Amino acid sequence: MQSILGEAVVQLNTDFWRGYFSDNQRDRAEPDWHAPVTVPQSARAALFQSLREFQLGDGGGPASLIAFNAERFRCQSSDIQSIVDSWFNEEKEHSRLLGGLLQRFGVEPIHSHWSFSLFCTLRKTLGVSFELQILTLTELVSTSYYSVLRCHCMDKAVRDVCALILRDEYGHVRFHNARLAEQYAKQGGVRRAYWRLQFWLCGYAAATVLWSSHGKCIRQLGGTTGEFYRNVTHQIKAFISSLDHSLTQESPSGGNTSEGLKYG
Ligand SMILES: [Fe+2]
Ligand SMILES: [Fe+2]
Repeated sequence: MQSILGEAVVQLNTDFWRGYFSDNQRDRAEPDWHAPVTVPQSARAALFQSLREFQLGDGGGPASLIAFNAERFRCQSSDIQSIVDSWFNEEKEHSRLLGGLLQRFGVEPIHSHWSFSLFCTLRKTLGVSFELQILTLTELVSTSYYSVLRCHCMDKAVRDVCALILRDEYGHVRFHNARLAEQYAKQGGVRRAYWRLQFWLCGYAAATVLWSSHGKCIRQLGGTTGEFYRNVTHQIKAFISSLDHSLTQESPSGGNTSEGLKYG
């Protein structure tokens, strides 16, 4: 299946993105693993299960594009290959950080889950341009999860892990925005409107899959369903607004760094 925006092939400002991923490895303090555990007893079981699923899903599986035709995207150039590797290395790091939390809480990791199996099957079978859309939406709704978790969990190590992951996810979202900007600008107005509609619908579907597994954890910590969906709405809206903003730029593909994108 092909994304409505067409080919996965992109014109990226590769110097910018190689520099970005390299700079992002600097000044990364380890979470305070030895801080006292301050998770309320009533929220522990749901939090631990949520962290186990995220440790598997956020970089704990295959750290690469896995669509049957993934090489179409990866092999456009050695620069793109290296940027994709840097992106997935950061995802692997998320799994390590979440694994650190599991170890801290004395919780065993899991090696399979229905939502993770579904996620991988869709990525493998629907083609790379659709895989990239699934991953983009996952970055957006995961950003909402980590933001709400960080807001409601007072445990120092959990908050430190969320902060590090969010720092990376904001960059990943900007990367996806930049890689889509040129294709988005090339479409006619009707096609763009159709793309936005399907992106909103798929975004809420991804959010609902996430909430079905992780809502209990957030609620036990004091968060609400409305808060999570408001955050998701904000993330998707900011993503689309930035694509629309790129239409008014002189050369959406020339400096595609999505510098104006605001998240959080
Ligand atoms: Fe991640
Ligand atoms: Fe990410």
